[in-house]
Formats: sequence, C-alpha cells, structure tokens
Amino acid sequence: MRVLVTGGAGFIGANFVHQTVRERPDVHVTVLDALTYAGDEASLSDVASAITFVRGDITDSPLVDRLVGEADVVIHFAAESHNDNSLSDPWPFVHTNVVGTFTLLEAVRRHGVRYHHISTDEVYGDLELDDPAKFTDQTPYNPSSPYSSTKASSDLLVRAWVRSFGVQGTISNCSNNYGPYQHVEKFIPRQITNLIDGVRPKLYGTGQNVRDWIHVEDHNTAVWAIVERGQIGRTYLIGADGEVDNKSVVETLLELMGQPADAYDLVSDRPGHDMRYAIDASTLRSELGWTPQYGSFRDGLAATIDWYRANEGWWRPRKDATEAKYATMGR
Ligand code: NAD
Ligand code: DAU
Repeated sequence: MRVLVTGGAGFIGANFVHQTVRERPDVHVTVLDALTYAGDEASLSDVASAITFVRGDITDSPLVDRLVGEADVVIHFAAESHNDNSLSDPWPFVHTNVVGTFTLLEAVRRHGVRYHHISTDEVYGDLELDDPAKFTDQTPYNPSSPYSSTKASSDLLVRAWVRSFGVQGTISNCSNNYGPYQHVEKFIPRQITNLIDGVRPKLYGTGQNVRDWIHVEDHNTAVWAIVERGQIGRTYLIGADGEVDNKSVVETLLELMGQPADAYDLVSDRPGHDMRYAIDASTLRSELGWTPQYGSFRDGLAATIDWYRANEGWWRPRKDATEAKYATMGR
C-alpha cells in the first residue's frame, strides 16, 4: 500500500509515520510537508531511509496531483494547528486548512484515491464544566476560533465531496493529543520546557478549562482502524476518556518535575477560550474494535517529560522564538 501523509513533519504526522514504519512493513510512506515553523524534518530522521520526503505546499495543485496519482491512500494531517496563532494572524489558517483541503479533495476526486481527513473536536465548540454531555458525531458544528472554524470548513468540504462527487472519504475528529515531537508552543511541552529552563508554568485565565487528553500513539492507531475498517462517508470521534482541567495538568507536571504544586503563574486568558471538550468515542470502540493503550495520563506525562529532557536538541532551537511570540500576546 502506498500512503501519502500530508503534514508528516509535524507532531501527530511524524508520530504516525514512525508508527507506520515500525508496524507496517507492507506500507510505503510518502510525506508531503511545507516545513512551516511547525514542521521539522529532524522529527523524521530516524525513519528517513524508509520513506520518501517531499517538501511542498498542499495548495500546490500540480505537485499534489502528481503525488496523489502515485498513492493508494491519502491521510491528511497538514494544517495550521495553533489557536493562539490563529487569533494573531488568521490568513495562513484559511490558506492551508481550507484551500489546502480543497486542493487535496480535487486531486483525490480526479484519481479516485481513498482519502482520510484528520480533524479536531474543536469544530463542535465547547461544553459547560457541569454539562454531562460529550461530543458525538451528531453534535452541531459551532467553532469558536479562526483555527477551529477553518477546520470545520475543511470537514464540510470533505462531506460535500463525498456526497456530490463520490470521493471515498472518512473524517476523524480527535481531542487534545500529547506525546513526543509536539511543538513547544502547545500547552504541555511549553510548561515542561519552561520548567526545564527554571521558568514558572503559565496558566491561561483561571486554569479551570478542561481538555480531553489522548496519547498521540492512541490517536494514530485509531486513524489506521478507520483507514482499514471505516465506512466511507462516516465521521468518527477519537478520544480516550481523558478529561482533566489545565490547573491539574500543571500541578501534575510540577509534582513530577520536583516543584511545589503552586509554583505556576496565572496569565491573561485566550480570547474566546473554549471551556471544555469531551469526546464520546463509543462508535469507534464498538464498531471498529479500537481501544486506547495508554491507560494512565500521569504515566504518559512522565514519559513525555523524559522525552523532552532527552531531546533538548530537538526543541531548543524553537523555544526563544516561541516565547517571544507569546510575549507579544501578553501570555
Ligand atoms: P502541527 O502544527 O504540529 O503540524 C502541522 C504540519 O503541517 C507541520 O509539519 C507543517 O509544516 C505542515 N504544514 C502546515 N501548512 C502546510 C502546507 N500549506 N502544506 C504542507 N504542509 C503544511 O500539527 P499537529 O498538532 O500535528 O496536528 C496535525 C493535524 O491533527 C491537524 O490537522 C490538526 O488540526 C489535527 N488535530 C490536532 C490535535 C492536537 O492535539 N494537536 C488534535 C486533534 C486534531
Ligand atoms: O482539541 C484538539 C485541539 O487541541 C487541536 O485541534 C489543536 O490543534 C491543538 O492545538 C489543541 O488545541 P488547544 O487550544 O486545546 O491546545 P493548547 O495546547 O494550545 O492549549 C491547551 C489548553 O491549555 C487550553 O485550554 C489553553 C491552555 N493553555 C495553553 C498554553 C499554551 C494554558 O493555560 N497555558 C499555555 O501556556
């Protein structure tokens, strides 16, 4: 099987490529990635000899057309992925998330190639802290930020291309991932690397916001389950029942890194900050037989701390620029 992975030099895509090379010798992976500020070819250095890497933009229609024509399956991870950046400068989000997805859909339509679309639970907006509900594939779309609205737009393009043009497509909407190779702009790596540098963690607002954490390896086994056994046209929600509020995440990181549990700072809140995400992944479990393997969030965090301690050469080059960007946002 020949798989085209867009965004394979980013966090989830790179973990997906590692897992695929490790566990699926029958699969040849081609990565298409523009190497934006968020992409790093070094994230693929361990598997470089086993894959084909193409540096390019997913809005480059001739390039995309050629690569899609050489693939059996396209798995589309590439995106502008960070909410805070989307509030400062939304255009790259429209370009990559909307125009890029359109470009891929037109290519898979021309070539009749199977397409899996990676998306986010943020398309559903947010839940109240005391709401017993979780997101399902019937929850109405209600995105809050430029990031989540462009991801919602891309999901709707996929649904239309499946229905109107018969594209062989599936969609997954996953909750917050953590694990190795995540950019230091994101919550957990930002706090781990701050603590390594002797800087206090920074919590937005009151720290009450809840995210539904899943290890990136579990996200990626679910993606393979959908690619292999998912029903064309369906949307699958991916989550591992990992709801934790941000304050508790920071307290756990502080404890695991040998600091007092209150050694963090509250900083100004993210405008439009979603309060809570929660995923009902029962369809994925019951219909596709998927189960997450990372049972303990605390153990997963400890392993992630170890990874950032052992791989300072990977994250250090981006740390100062990331913090300089946050300084301009007052966060
Ligand atoms: P990331 O920002 O770490 O990586 C994105 C990758 O896409 C980078 O390698 C970047 O170079 C590449 N890219 C960006 N624009 C491109 C373009 N125009 N052409 C080609 N490549 C381009 O993102 P991530 O956290 O790994 O997220 C991957 C996907 O998963 C995204 O679609 C995101 O919406 C989705 N998702 C992420 C999470 C999460 O918690 N991180 C959760 C659910 C869904
Ligand atoms: O839910 C899935 C989404 O999860 C993905 O679609 C996005 O690509 C991914 O970035 C993530 O979005 P969030 O906005 O939830 O993730 P982030 O890591 O930016 O922040 C997680 C929570 O932590 C959020 O409530 C904001 C808060 N936060 C973040 C940072 C960077 C802080 O309190 N302090 C921080 O320094």
